[in-house]
Amino acid sequence: MGKKKQAVIIDGRQVAAELKESIKKEVAEMIDKGDNGPHLAAVLVGDDPASETYVASKEKAAHAVGMMSSTYRYPADVSEKELLEVVDYLNNDDEIDGYIVQLPLPGHIDENKIIHHINPAKDVDGFTPENVGKMVLGQPAFLSATPYGIMELLKYYKIPIAGKHVVVLGRSNIVGRPLSILLSQKKEGANATVTLCHSATENLGEITRTADILIAAIGQPQFVKADMVKEGAAVIDVGIHRIKDATKKSGYHLTGDVDFDEVVKKVSFITPVPGGVGPMTIAMLLKNTLLAHKKEIYS
Ligand code: GUN
Repeated sequence: MGKKKQAVIIDGRQVAAELKESIKKEVAEMIDKGDNGPHLAAVLVGDDPASETYVASKEKAAHAVGMMSSTYRYPADVSEKELLEVVDYLNNDDEIDGYIVQLPLPGHIDENKIIHHINPAKDVDGFTPENVGKMVLGQPAFLSATPYGIMELLKYYKIPIAGKHVVVLGRSNIVGRPLSILLSQKKEGANATVTLCHSATENLGEITRTADILIAAIGQPQFVKADMVKEGAAVIDVGIHRIKDATKKSGYHLTGDVDFDEVVKKVSFITPVPGGVGPMTIAMLLKNTLLAHKKEIYS
């Protein structure tokens, strides 16, 4: 018997760093020519620690590539009306190329109402019905950052997609559903046969075992076990969970939706957590902000 090939551990930090480097170069050239460069804004409501961390990372990453960044903070009891006014303000502020409203929002605010109010030309999260609709139709649109980042990782590592069976676990509006659509499109870098599984799926293991590419976006720590994965498959782990861990200075460690230590022994490619999909999400947000500034999606 031949020696089994070791899995390639997909290095999202490296791919994101390369992408950010090219964005940084382009921004520097713009600024040299007298342009202000792109400006990304974030709206942060309340004091959810995960949201605070995400927005701080986005701001830091924007600055690192030479972009301007502003964060608009509001207390958890801000009214829906006030937040809609903030969105109106950002829609009309010519200084801001793109912005995100960090989710989740407090329960008394209708998230959909806020998102539907975002100007699609500034919707660098790709969450508005207009951008989602265009994405579904295969037209130029802001793609939501996590699915966009996963498409880039698959491309970078030249993981075969066309004609392959991709199984997506999770049907969220932000990750699972858009990915299932992008991967099934008749386009280069796509053209897969896609199965979208979710909490009501029967015989889940039977389906996942037929996946050439398995994408886990279900939000349950280490849900995907080795016996659910085909030998030689590529596994993309979108989950990120804080697990209490007294041995760590922070008091926790991070894990994904995949039982990495076991699954890695069986597969051809796998993303680690952290350092896989996560870094790509921020890089794609910066890419979208650059596209917004250049008016390459909406002109
Ligand atoms: N909350 C978790 N992920 C995201 C994201 O990508 N964008 C926004 N706006 N909120 C989030």
